Amino acid sequence: MITSRSSILLDAQSNSYAVPAFNVHNLETMKTVLETAQELRSPVMIAATPSTISYIGQDFFIGMMEAAKKTYDIPICFHLDHHEKVEDIKTLIKSGVPSVMIDASHHDFEENIRIVREVVEYAIPFGVAVEAELGRLSGVEDDLEVDEKDQIYTNPTQAKEFVSRTGIDSLAVAIGTAHGLYKGEPKLDIERLAAIQKEVDIPLVLHGASGLSDELVQKTIERGICKVNIATELKMAFVKGLRGYLQDHPSANDPRYYFKDAVKEMKRVVADKMKMCGSVNRG
Ligand code: 13P
Repeated sequence: MITSRSSILLDAQSNSYAVPAFNVHNLETMKTVLETAQELRSPVMIAATPSTISYIGQDFFIGMMEAAKKTYDIPICFHLDHHEKVEDIKTLIKSGVPSVMIDASHHDFEENIRIVREVVEYAIPFGVAVEAELGRLSGVEDDLEVDEKDQIYTNPTQAKEFVSRTGIDSLAVAIGTAHGLYKGEPKLDIERLAAIQKEVDIPLVLHGASGLSDELVQKTIERGICKVNIATELKMAFVKGLRGYLQDHPSANDPRYYFKDAVKEMKRVVADKMKMCGSVNRG
């Protein structure tokens, strides 16, 4: 069942859990996420960055989405993660993608609003939900790299204005999380998140969840986070399984077999994150 992101997140918001959004890169990682979600009956978001779309190919991505619709009966939402090019977003919306993030967070406040508003106006007739970011996370996410000194925390008062002037369906917040691996102990500004939640009534999104403890993520869910983005930990699990398999079977050459342990390792992480988010048996 493919669903729009706004309905999937609104259920999470009313029932105080979060939908995990997993970044996938190919058929194996996508199927691992979807099969685990089906087994645990967890609603799930499949997130694809611009470089993932160009790696998989737009038509193949849409084809995988159509196949998922026929194969699984849990709420699944395909989502564009960190897309910056408005024209690419429009093309993908026209192709049937139900949920998009326009990331204009590197622009100033007014320009961020203008770009996001353009996407929202385009998305509304298609029934597509739009996520945008206010503030800036540090770290590396595919082609996106932000130095720690350039990170900007979300201002709660500005968040209120941003949401009302753009008409977005969910807001990605910067409260100290970072994309990729944390250099030291991650410190989140939970008070700031609580202040944002007071000002803003739409679902909030936590980027950069790899490396955070379950307890910390659960604290953010108690304060309005309804979508938790996870990429790096999945990649690490997949490659660990693959590396181990190839070390144990140096003559392996059949991808139908040599991905086996990669899938197993990744599945474990996906299941743990679903439990962390409280999304198990919600689908
Ligand atoms: P991590 O790579 O830190 O899990 O972040 C994922 C993310 O926020 C994708 O948008």
